Amino acid sequence: MTRTIPSLADLRTTLQPLRDEQTIALVPTMGNLHAGHLALVKLAQQHADIVVVSIFVNPTQFGANEDLDSYPRTLTADTEKLTAIGADYIFVPTVADMYPVLPPATQVLAGPISQQLCGQTRPTHFDGVGLVVAKLFNIVQPNVAVFGKKDYQQLAIVRQLVQDLSYDITILAAPIVRAADGLALSSRNQYLSDTERNIAPNLHQAVASLATELEQGAATSLALLQQLIEATITSINSSGFKVDYLAVLNQDLTAVANMETDKDLVIVTAAWLGKARLLDNQEVKVGS
Ligand code: PAF
Repeated sequence: MTRTIPSLADLRTTLQPLRDEQTIALVPTMGNLHAGHLALVKLAQQHADIVVVSIFVNPTQFGANEDLDSYPRTLTADTEKLTAIGADYIFVPTVADMYPVLPPATQVLAGPISQQLCGQTRPTHFDGVGLVVAKLFNIVQPNVAVFGKKDYQQLAIVRQLVQDLSYDITILAAPIVRAADGLALSSRNQYLSDTERNIAPNLHQAVASLATELEQGAATSLALLQQLIEATITSINSSGFKVDYLAVLNQDLTAVANMETDKDLVIVTAAWLGKARLLDNQEVKVGS
């Protein structure tokens, strides 16, 4: 049976006696759940006895002019979806419970990985993500935690947080879940008009075709790689997007230094389509 737990103290009391005998997985979310989130929960169920899904729209990861107030809050529908797939606990803390003082005096600084890509336009976002993820790890004390690869930079930052702060937690990365036309599922897709929704799959198509070119060995030098990146940005923009960034990096998000030796890469992009800022990415094994 799925149980909703609205307070931090209740969650601690509930989980404490279970820890000796059972393993616990945490799936952190901000709610407004779609099939991508449910895939995270299903992966968690394969790796632990008990699955806790947190639903918390975390104020510290939103910038001043971002969509904190309008971020979709759909707890009733979320609870039905999680009940249908047999999640054990839904942790729905209040802002006051999570942050008795807001902003809190203690900060998590996510460091250099957080300052590039999304961090260029959202400079405090990943510090807020790091803070809330650290708090959720301390509250739930899970054995495993599941994050989606759609938020590739967030995943890298969480892995770094686990290493830097010595959490004894295994991080599982779940593949991107896509609509039939290739659009990566995201809560922010609902900001798209019907016309924009028809344009939206172009982002994935452009990334996928760049991935094919890289896999076929089209970028034999950094200069050629740059040309392919620029052509891809032009193609995405011409379909109606405004590209925020598109980069090809090593999978730990460091810069590619040499096309001969750096082979396991990732294409990462963020692009505006109307009011929606869409993310996509694809891992690539570069051909020779
Ligand atoms: O990916 C998200 O939904 C959020 O950034 C997370 C990890 C739940 C932290 O608030």
